[in-house]
Amino acid sequence: MTQLPGLLDTEAIRKDFPVLDRVVHDGRKLVYLDNAATSQKPRQVLDALSEYYERYNANVHRGVHVLAEEATALYEGARDKVAEFINAPSRDEVIFTKNASESLNLVANMLGWADEPYRVDQDTEIVITEMEHHSNIVPWQLLAQRTGAKLKWFGLTDDGRLDLSNIDEIITEKTKIVSFVLVSNILGTVNPVETIIRRAQEVGALVCIDASQAAPHMPLDVQALQADFVAFTGHKMCGPTGIGVLWGRQELLEDLPPFLGGGEMIETVSMHSSTYAPAPHKFEAGTPPIAQAVGLGAAIDYLNSIGMDRILAHEHALTEYAVRRLAEVPDLRIIGPTTAEDRGAAISFTLGDIHPHDVGQVLDEQGIAVRVGHHCARPVCLRYGIPATTRASFYLYSSPAEIDALVDGLEHVRNFFG
Ligand code: ALA
Repeated sequence: MTQLPGLLDTEAIRKDFPVLDRVVHDGRKLVYLDNAATSQKPRQVLDALSEYYERYNANVHRGVHVLAEEATALYEGARDKVAEFINAPSRDEVIFTKNASESLNLVANMLGWADEPYRVDQDTEIVITEMEHHSNIVPWQLLAQRTGAKLKWFGLTDDGRLDLSNIDEIITEKTKIVSFVLVSNILGTVNPVETIIRRAQEVGALVCIDASQAAPHMPLDVQALQADFVAFTGHKMCGPTGIGVLWGRQELLEDLPPFLGGGEMIETVSMHSSTYAPAPHKFEAGTPPIAQAVGLGAAIDYLNSIGMDRILAHEHALTEYAVRRLAEVPDLRIIGPTTAEDRGAAISFTLGDIHPHDVGQVLDEQGIAVRVGHHCARPVCLRYGIPATTRASFYLYSSPAEIDALVDGLEHVRNFFG
């Protein structure tokens, strides 16, 4: 068995994830390398979800009965766990949403409806990058169309990094918001946050970070990041689907208007007008994803029990091994950084002229699950002149043996297509 420094005891960890024992396609053991799309869930999270429904299920913030009080304590307890996990100065800065897309749409809509000095209008500019997930492109396009603001973006270098050579022309005195991804879901690139934030702060622009591919894989400290908003999702970090997070600086959340109206986000309502509850409730209209938040809390407990530093080291060792092994496959071209330096554990590639959908299908027949397509980051494929990629992505339970299986599987793909 291949041993690499920094690896976690994956044999022990895998015992917590029932689905990893699945056998697929004629008795082949599942090799799950689609973690950037969604992670698997440990028994601890599955138990927290069923325990919630079996013992506590009630609506939150509304009831006087014991179940309502306990459900509220569990839901708000999950908020405390998220706040601590990201080192938020206050639990009131943590807003629960349904996913990272909703978190990013929330920021775009807050700014669209805001008064000065935050208001985005026809005299202002919005800055994103060419490596964004569609969830960090489309909300800003919608905002630009609605307000007349100009949408600008950083392009990409040939080796899959942000081209910041013209940073002073892209981020200007007119920039209201700079929104960018911390770790790219398609290229794996880890972006130079400090350089971008320094320039944004020089011109007084707000900064929003999409941390969907970072929060599951590395320690995340929103105070050290110095951004104004940070968005991520629960299902990529061992939590359930249907729960996302938006962290925002308290004074901004106090000043900015709500996006969705409804129950529980109000202070008073008359037939003429309403006043709003303080953050975070101002931004959580309607019955929230209660069980999902509890599940996310359990996922955070689980990740903490292993340690985010150790998870990062494990994935770094795996990524180093994977780029080395993939380099042995003839005709394989990595789309993104080709070393483990400043990159996450999602690796996209093409294999000669074989269409990624064919690669994915032949790998699937061998029990290997990868994602193929444009990965909701179509501008990246356009930039590199490719229709799609095959993407393998690792997590805390991934092992070098699974990377070996991928490399053998790709050899099989090559033989299959002659
Ligand atoms: N954003 C997810 C991915 O990259 C769905 O696959």
